[in-house]
Amino acid sequence: MTISEMQEEIIRIKKEKDICILAHAYQNHEILEVADYVGDSYGLAVNASKDSKKTVLMCGVRFMAETCKIISPEKNVILVSSEAGCPMAEQLDTDFLAAIKEDYPDYTTVCYINTTAELKTQCDVCVTSSAALKIVSQLENDKILFIPDPNLGNWIEKQLPEKTFAFYKRGGCPTHFRLTADEVKKAKEAHPDALVLVHPECRPEVVELADFVGSTTGIMNYAKKSDKKEFIIGTENSIVSHLQYDCPDKLFFALSKDCVCHNMRLITLGDVYTAVKGLTGEEITLSDEVITGAKRCIDKMLELGG
Ligand code: 13P
Ligand code: SF4
Repeated sequence: MTISEMQEEIIRIKKEKDICILAHAYQNHEILEVADYVGDSYGLAVNASKDSKKTVLMCGVRFMAETCKIISPEKNVILVSSEAGCPMAEQLDTDFLAAIKEDYPDYTTVCYINTTAELKTQCDVCVTSSAALKIVSQLENDKILFIPDPNLGNWIEKQLPEKTFAFYKRGGCPTHFRLTADEVKKAKEAHPDALVLVHPECRPEVVELADFVGSTTGIMNYAKKSDKKEFIIGTENSIVSHLQYDCPDKLFFALSKDCVCHNMRLITLGDVYTAVKGLTGEEITLSDEVITGAKRCIDKMLELGG
């Protein structure tokens, strides 16, 4: 089977079985081409809430599939690869969070969507990189416990000086953590006309040197709309190749060859094919208690995020 024959089969089967394929922007290009919706974490959550198909196939990592299940418990939500987790989402469990919260009793607990469903039951509201600023700025409490990513938290803190933030300092994304300020300086020297676009999961000293900071979709939209012709991309390297397809007249350079999320990269078109056929994939199951507790947190995000 060729790539396009496999894609045609996936599209035929998903229509026959009423399956909605959601793909995070970090997925391979051949997967994006068969998806019903492609986007950042916030976009995936919003689309999961709007789509009426009875089965959702998540081409992304576990917390994204859990978010779909929490929003639409009546649907079958299938995670294409059960091995695809997000290391950041597994950095904190409920006991650890309870211990942290003891030090910050009057703080509002804001969790990044990159957390487990269980952890969300213990938080007040969750955020994504694209909606964090909007959501946190609307919270009445000026004291914010932001978990687990201190880099995203730091970026929000700088934009909301009126609020007091506390962080879990050892959290964060191991993929974006690899990017250094030195690499930004070297990339700028190599491509002096290029703009540097980075994800807020990068370290503060990397964010500091960037021309634009945003979610995966935010970075892509910025590059597409910009009059500039060259861009250095500081997020998962799949975005470099997607942008080159979307904007063939522009040039895109990876900030680092190491910005690769091995969990996102696990999923292949072949996995999507066997999953739509019902041969592979993990059906997400969550207890009613977890769904109810985590839904409160996600509903608050959707309410404040707009
Ligand atoms: P986005 O919300 O920007 O898609 O981020 C998700 C993610 O896992 C980035 O590392
Ligand atoms: Fe998790 Fe980082 Fe991979 Fe995103 S890039 S899924 S935050 S490990």
